[in-house]
Amino acid sequence: MNNFTFSSPTKIVFGRGVETGVGEETALHSKRVLLHFGGGSAERSGLLPRVRDSLRKAGVEWVELGGVRPNPRISLVREGVSLCRENGLDFILAVGGGSAIDSAKAIALGVGYPGDPWDFYDYTAKPEQALGVGVVLTIPAAGSESSTSSVLSDDETQTKRGCSSELLRPRFAFMNPELTFTLPAYQTAAGAADIMAHIMERYFTNARNVALTDRLCEAALRTVIDNLPRVLAAPDDYDARAEIMWAGSIAHNDLLGTGREGDWASHGIEHELSALYDVAHGAGLAVVFPAWMKFAWKHDVSRFARFATEVWGVERDWLDPERVALEGIRRLEAFFSASGLPVRLTELGIPLDRLDEMAARAVMKGNGFLGKFVELDAQEVRIILQYALAPR
Ligand code: NZQ
Ligand code: ZN
Repeated sequence: MNNFTFSSPTKIVFGRGVETGVGEETALHSKRVLLHFGGGSAERSGLLPRVRDSLRKAGVEWVELGGVRPNPRISLVREGVSLCRENGLDFILAVGGGSAIDSAKAIALGVGYPGDPWDFYDYTAKPEQALGVGVVLTIPAAGSESSTSSVLSDDETQTKRGCSSELLRPRFAFMNPELTFTLPAYQTAAGAADIMAHIMERYFTNARNVALTDRLCEAALRTVIDNLPRVLAAPDDYDARAEIMWAGSIAHNDLLGTGREGDWASHGIEHELSALYDVAHGAGLAVVFPAWMKFAWKHDVSRFARFATEVWGVERDWLDPERVALEGIRRLEAFFSASGLPVRLTELGIPLDRLDEMAARAVMKGNGFLGKFVELDAQEVRIILQYALAPR
């Protein structure tokens, strides 16, 4: 097991109706906040009116900035920074999913910084301070409600970049599984794929003697695999929604990564897809992850065979572990497909004319290399994209 430091101080308030307490919790941090949200789902569902009511009762004043789009943009972040400065707001309450939360985190970084907030995303500035962020979560997916990361896009350069700092962990997250009943099936499935990807990025590691986190990863994956079909069949199945929602936070607050080194190549490749074509992040991962596996499995056949037996229930075969390993990958892909997700670039609607460029861009952030479990160069990323094109 590798050395590690683990601190995940986000206060989680979980369960039916909990969002009515968000005003009181916010008041412990600030009485003047920016209320930040997405494109309309939270208004339509009646959540935003309840949040406003809760803030009002707790004596919290707020200014609103809605309109965060999936794959959030730096342009709205700049607007949020100005609003906070002009109105003396010193805390941000994000209502929504990864996009609203990541945009809130970027604003939190930008308010006290004299330069442009994008500097944190092109790595020319390092986070040294940030306003506090609180969350009311509406979609289990990105795990941003208790993660250290924020991922932003710049339309002008068609780039998508992440920034990571302990300063970005939200102070609190209100998580009511009932709020996810209104999610379209596609978003539910894409969210589950993202959750599974966060676990698998950590599971495929070269670290040895990590039995506890191996088993935690397997349990979290099996929980999502068991419950996704249930919520797709019955969107208001509270218990199944609750399992997925909690798994989404556990998947990415890094408990499951303790003592191990994650890979993250699939995320690096997917971010190039969503940067250029604005696809849902989880759907992009449903295409990229199995393709990455088809490239990476030979690096550690026994880990892939274990993934097949412990996660997918494939029968052990000591004489032919390679067959077992490949069956695990096949079952993952079949699961994504049965959940209504794309598993090929063409199904995702990605044209084929910029694959070389995507491969080159994916390795740029790592000085020509991407991934830790298997280190990939641009040519190898291009092979993975080719696997993501292969006929089924
Ligand atoms: O904008 P609204 O109208 O709210 O609609 C959203 C959006 O269209 C809708 N939605 C959310 N909750 C809903 C709902 N619709 C009905 N009922 C509800 N309860 O769902 C759509 C997707 O929302 P979004 O916030 O974009 O989803 P997600 O949580 O998947 O976030 C994706 C973003 O997070 C980044 C991704 O790259 C992407 O930009 N990630 C952030 C990470 C982090 N900060 O730690 C890690 C991840 O790996 C990921 O990269
Ligand atoms: Zn992700």
